[in-house]
Amino acid sequence: MTIDLAIIGGSGLYNFPGLENATRHRVDTPFGAASGDVVIGDFAGRRVAFLARHGESHTVPPHRVNYRANLWALHSLGARRVVGVNAVGGIRADMGPRVIVVPDQVIDYTYGRYTSFCDVEGAEVRHIDFSEPYTEALRRELIEAAGKAGVAVIDGGCYGATQGPRLETRAEIARMKRDGCDLVGMTGMPEAVLARELDLAYACLALVANFAAGCGDEAEISIEEIFAHLAAATAEVPRILGQLLKS
Ligand code: HPA
Repeated sequence: MTIDLAIIGGSGLYNFPGLENATRHRVDTPFGAASGDVVIGDFAGRRVAFLARHGESHTVPPHRVNYRANLWALHSLGARRVVGVNAVGGIRADMGPRVIVVPDQVIDYTYGRYTSFCDVEGAEVRHIDFSEPYTEALRRELIEAAGKAGVAVIDGGCYGATQGPRLETRAEIARMKRDGCDLVGMTGMPEAVLARELDLAYACLALVANFAAGCGDEAEISIEEIFAHLAAATAEVPRILGQLLKS
């Protein structure tokens, strides 16, 4: 089966609207179960695979997502290009709530997650280049598609991946800012590196839900506000990805 594009939906994106002739696929992987069924359907004459990262009812927290099974499942169904949609907090001043960013760098602060397909006994050890964690051609396609769809996105930024599920302290965010992070999210890694290990083209569409701790005016971050901003940014995603599929 050929899949033109696979989409991993994050918080707030649990299906891809407008998929026709959709079929559901439960894939057994050597790494266990994926977050849920992969839904494959047609959009604008293209085959699209969709997987909800946290499950369709948002029951899988960021540190318990089986990233390996998710990517393995998409790859085994024929996906070769993947866009990960991720909710994030903004650290950089121009990355406030509802802004959409296509990051170009990553710093990984997560721990205790399986970060490689290599740790299966007997598997060949592969060291991969990760200087550029995202596939530049797919990043460019996303940015062009957003432009054609009339949705403003910021090209580039450094995604700092934290463990979650709690949000960060102000001191943690201050350190991340000093490190060069522009955004903070809980699911960008190890998804990006596992995609690279499978030779998948991979890019991230980061939806800013809130200013990260200490970066906005508020003393505390309201979880209700996060979801309201996220819903607004998520509404733009099908327009961008729909345009990407039509191009
Ligand atoms: N921190 C980490 N992950 C997030 C945030 C945040 O502030 N907002 C949305 N996802």
